Amino acid sequence: MGAEEWVPERPTLPRLRAAVQECRGCELYRDATQGVMGDGDPEAELVLLGEQPGDQEDQAGEPFVGPAGRVLDDALADAGIGPERVYTTNVVKHFRWSGMRGKRRIHQSPKQAHVAACRPWLDAELRMLRPRGVVLLGGTAGKALYGPSFKVGEARGRQLAWPEDRPVAVPPRWVLATTHPSAVLRARDERQAAYDALVADLRTAAELLG
Ligand code: URA
Ligand code: SF4
Repeated sequence: MGAEEWVPERPTLPRLRAAVQECRGCELYRDATQGVMGDGDPEAELVLLGEQPGDQEDQAGEPFVGPAGRVLDDALADAGIGPERVYTTNVVKHFRWSGMRGKRRIHQSPKQAHVAACRPWLDAELRMLRPRGVVLLGGTAGKALYGPSFKVGEARGRQLAWPEDRPVAVPPRWVLATTHPSAVLRARDERQAAYDALVADLRTAAELLG
């Protein structure tokens, strides 16, 4: 498994977006509608890194356009971060799902093997960007960068160093981890508290950006 052979030798973001549609680096392309690369201004000072496209992202071909995306948009607005300041993407580019709930396909988190297989896409994408900071949305993104022992609950809210094994043009000055916006949707009784904690972490990111 692995996406290397599908990643263009001289990538640009549009080329990556086109080429990911051909990827057979793992089996996830089979049950997905399309590959979903990141979206936003390539010059953005902040990169938000999620897990994988969801049901709606898979159909739209864009990240964070479904329910979790709406939570994220609200949280960014409440943290004072305008949408033009962020580039948003995911560690895995195809939607992993199994079974239906009504008309919606049920999300399944990607396995470590999928994250590893998809890494060449993320690395190529990150090399096209020059963010000052990166916010990791949830455990899958955290584990993708820092390894399987990463825990959002322990790491959230404080500055982490960019991992040395991810070569980029200009290493981001800091990384912050926070909960995934879909965890806010799942937190029934504590939804407001979970949302407030997400906003607080994004405010920290806003302060670091200055
Ligand atoms: N959840 C993610 O992690 N990414 C998306 O793009 C949508 C939902
Ligand atoms: Fe390729 Fe990633 Fe899609 Fe797997 S999930 S087929 S590695 S783009």
